[in-house]
Amino acid sequence: MGWYVWDGKEERFVTAERPPRDPQLTKALEEGLAIRLADAGDRGKIFEFRKEAIETEPDIWHPEEMDLDGFRRILEGWDPAAYPNDFVLVADLDGKIIGVLQLNVSYRILENGPSAWVEDIFVLKRFRGYGVGSRLMESAKRLAVEKGCRSLNLLVDPNNLAGRSFYRHLGFEITDTGWAILKLDPAKAGGR
Ligand SMILES: CC(C)(COP(=O)(O)OP(=O)(O)OC[C@H]1O[C@@H](n2cnc3c(N)ncnc32)[C@H](O)[C@@H]1OP(=O)(O)O)[C@@H](O)C(=O)NCCC(=O)NCCS
Repeated sequence: MGWYVWDGKEERFVTAERPPRDPQLTKALEEGLAIRLADAGDRGKIFEFRKEAIETEPDIWHPEEMDLDGFRRILEGWDPAAYPNDFVLVADLDGKIIGVLQLNVSYRILENGPSAWVEDIFVLKRFRGYGVGSRLMESAKRLAVEKGCRSLNLLVDPNNLAGRSFYRHLGFEITDTGWAILKLDPAKAGGR
């Protein structure tokens, strides 16, 4: 399977040579990467994460998403206690946030009960291809299983070839509408 990168001029994903892994970064990630739940005390670090994400890939964001003052206000209004079924998982490399995944769990009374949706997943460009996204998704899976969910769901844009490869690699089935679903095994609860 190919490696995909976003081409800002063409405005689409194109196949490319996979960037070589930096051995020093591989080692740093092996030794220092922790996946943990974020709390309000992480606002500053999440702001820096978003700032780097915009600065390093300005062509992937809509203009309104690049308004850092607006983003600061959104973060200030974030009260995790008010949203107990929302889980913000962060990939923390020695105190720096390099990846974020947001998971939402709800109880669907007309469906199968507890249901988990990944709302966002993003890894900073220079840390991609080292397994950080996979580690975030593994944590989301464990959390969803702990909450009794039988599947993990998300939406992926049909044009997001990198995202689609990533989700397929993790075992998601993707429908024509871009709904990706991963069956969970409730027997495998525990650990982060
Ligand atoms: C999608 C994303 C989260 C993946 O994070 P990551 O840390 O780079 O992913 P991993 O290193 O864990 O990749 C796991 C596997 O996914 C596949 N994969 C990941 N990125 C890929 C790419 N650009 N092209 C093709 N396959 C890719 C590979 O099979 C890889 O396994 P391998 O390293 O053994 O070859 C990251 O590319 C990202 O943040 N993209 C921008 C935001 C985005 O598109 N989010 C998804 C929105 S639906």
